[in-house]
Amino acid sequence: MTLRSPICDSLKIDVPIVLAGMGGASTPALAAAVSNAGGLGVLGAAAAGPKALREMIEETRSLTDRPFGVDTLLPASVRRKDVMKAPGAVPDLAPYQEFTAEFIAREGLPPVSGGELASLAPGEDGPMIFTKQFFEAQMEVIIEERVPVYAAGLGDPGPWMDRLHANGTFVIAVVGKVLHAQRVAGSGVDMIVAQGHDAGGHNSPVGTMALIPQVVDAVDVPVLGAGGIIDGRGVAAAMMLGAAGAWVGTAFLATEEAGIHDFQKQALVDSGESDTTVSRVLTGKPARMIKSLWSQAWEEAEIEPLPMPFQSIVSAPAMAAGIRARRADILPGFAGQGVGGIRSVRPAAEVLESMAREAEQVLKGASDFL
Ligand SMILES: Cc1cc2nc3c(=O)[nH]c(=O)nc-3n(C[C@H](O)[C@H](O)[C@H](O)COP(=O)(O)O)c2cc1C
Repeated sequence: MTLRSPICDSLKIDVPIVLAGMGGASTPALAAAVSNAGGLGVLGAAAAGPKALREMIEETRSLTDRPFGVDTLLPASVRRKDVMKAPGAVPDLAPYQEFTAEFIAREGLPPVSGGELASLAPGEDGPMIFTKQFFEAQMEVIIEERVPVYAAGLGDPGPWMDRLHANGTFVIAVVGKVLHAQRVAGSGVDMIVAQGHDAGGHNSPVGTMALIPQVVDAVDVPVLGAGGIIDGRGVAAAMMLGAAGAWVGTAFLATEEAGIHDFQKQALVDSGESDTTVSRVLTGKPARMIKSLWSQAWEEAEIEPLPMPFQSIVSAPAMAAGIRARRADILPGFAGQGVGGIRSVRPAAEVLESMAREAEQVLKGASDFL
């Protein structure tokens, strides 16, 4: 394969295609498969507590000798644990939980045990809740484990830059706006992901095609394009817009190694280009997901979801019940608009290799336009 860019040398990878950190889905098996095939695998560790995160890193090291990354979230807006204990800091969840209970009953879903709920959102002292302390504990593990690459999926890794760089860790930040790109570039990150509105998961108000060149022009570090890239044509297009490569999520979800359920992989194959919506119904932050009865129920009831982290507490029982019942109409999951182009579930190495080969072909063919 000859598709290359300068980041291949910096990251010691063969092709400039990076597996996006996808919480729960970008497992050690998937990250290692992508790294072993010549790309960069990034673990989706957003919800992993410190112990689980260390185990994920160890497992990845046992599966590959190649560089890999770890992605966590560093949202600026989450509350501190002590603040959350203050009276009135937590909104009254009861009416929202009642909405969830009614939804579960209406859909005839099986009741869910506390254990199943905890496994959906595992924490080391009860169900995980996104607090500043939780994110800081993750960062300590990432620094102690001296991982090759760290990616901040949300927020600015500025406060940790010195310690990460002292370990030789290459630092990436995911952004959806030019201003955020300038801020993280000012913090000294080594690469930026410009993730547009087309992307699966938490994303930007700005479309991918418009965002990439504006971020490229605003910063002096290499930029990866993200959002709606599912094949080599998308990788080539991102590179023509000035990106040094691509950060790819949804296309790697439809792989044998991805850590999602088979019924969710089938939902990716079955979905069309307009079957996604951007909604706060799962986490409390706008995220692109396949439309479901859950997102529809909130729309129809015209209720504003709660902010992060409270909406996850409200949505978790319905999602756990949906998983228990293997109902793709309840929890098909996050996915980008490229989902309409996903035809089958394949091994991750095959996805990476075909994407790189196709990018190379279309870039070679580009001179035909001249
Ligand atoms: C199932 C899923 C889970 C995701 N979880 C995370 C996450 O935990 N952290 C993060 O930085 N981004 C997350 N994202 C966003 C991806 O990192 C990436 O930016 C996005 O998938 C790119 O768009 P694409 O899906 O169209 O390729 C997630 C995306 C998906 C589809």
